[in-house]
Amino acid sequence: MDLYEHQARELFEEHGIVVPRAEVTDSPLQAREIARRLGGRVVVKAQVKTGGRGKAGGVRMAADPTAAELTARQILGMDIKGHTVGTVMLAQPVDVEQEFYVSYVLDRAAGRFLAIASAEGGMEIEEVAARRPEAVARVHIDPAQGVTSARASEIAEAAGLPPQTVDVLVRLWEVLVREDAVLVEVNPLVRTAQGRIVALDGKVTLDDNARFRQARWGADESVRDDPLETAAAAKGLNYVRLDGEVGVIGNGAGLVMSTLDVVAGCGARPANFLDIGGGASAQVMADGLSVILSDPAVKSVLVNVFGGITACDAVAEGIVRALDTVRLTRPLVVRLDGNNAARGRAILDERAHPLVHQATTMDGAALRAAELATAA
Ligand SMILES: Nc1ncnc2c1ncn2[C@@H]1O[C@H](COP(=O)(O)OP(=O)(O)OP(=O)(O)O)[C@@H](O)[C@H]1O
Ligand SMILES: [Mg+2]
Repeated sequence: MDLYEHQARELFEEHGIVVPRAEVTDSPLQAREIARRLGGRVVVKAQVKTGGRGKAGGVRMAADPTAAELTARQILGMDIKGHTVGTVMLAQPVDVEQEFYVSYVLDRAAGRFLAIASAEGGMEIEEVAARRPEAVARVHIDPAQGVTSARASEIAEAAGLPPQTVDVLVRLWEVLVREDAVLVEVNPLVRTAQGRIVALDGKVTLDDNARFRQARWGADESVRDDPLETAAAAKGLNYVRLDGEVGVIGNGAGLVMSTLDVVAGCGARPANFLDIGGGASAQVMADGLSVILSDPAVKSVLVNVFGGITACDAVAEGIVRALDTVRLTRPLVVRLDGNNAARGRAILDERAHPLVHQATTMDGAALRAAELATAA
């Protein structure tokens, strides 16, 4: 789960990282009051869980409380990359002398964390990395050792950051460990004209596997950033939304993963991962189909099942009964193989739903689903 900037700011403050004074509101009138409390001039910042707020006009300076009210009124309700701005944070302006970039991110492939740091902060780090790769330092962190002062000095030196940032690098690591995060990023971390090091913007992504012990961000573990994922989690489904057009349902995570690959190999893009596991009851099938079909990007759905302990005829019965409760609005390609496959196929043939197609092989089924998605 991603946190809002103001939540990240709160965590930084709790761990002793200097941040500007700031308050959050959803009301322009309160924005005026807050600006008055903060000394008049403020930065008004849209609170949305997406990047590029500044470019979109969601980060603006206001000269006095009246301007703060007006600016808050303009930013609240704005759409930034599909996210509606519901709250703004008003922050005290800081006299910026230099902007840096620092982050720790889980590097799954390396089995390590990766510290990324640059003396060229403020803009998007991807741009800096593309333009001047030598300006971005990348240092692996052994999770068992963490970021000691010595390690932090190495990071700062590699990136050309001033020595005063070493303390912040150590504290930022503590944020990551204590708060169960897989990403903490400060962009920009700045040096002020007075020589202080201040975190002006923060992004924190928490490890969803640790949600049960980070209850302060919402006790409901099923709440995800994506509304469809939230709906799926509430139904106990193992669903991850992707950005393609072929919906995918399968039994067993390995089979679903390879189905995604085969769909991609057919020139289409999978719209989701959905593992219905061993039990393929009518209810699970209906729940899965209804989540997938409520994604408007989905143009066809592929059900890929290898019958084992749960036999194919049981899965076919599940699909047939799901068709009674879910209105199928897009073509459904079913591939049944393994235990009782012939019985399962016969059950679907008998139902003869005009939008249900059958295929005998995984490749054939993926190709059919890809064709149907493209034709739609
Ligand atoms: N409190 C502040 N005082 C002075 N300048 C600020 C302050 N907050 C932000 N800024 C300036 O505004 C720029 C953009 O702010 P910020 O980094 O928070 O948003 P962003 O990077 O555009 O948003 P996103 O992180 O969504 O891409 C900063 O690089 C900094 O120069
Ligand atoms: Mg930023």
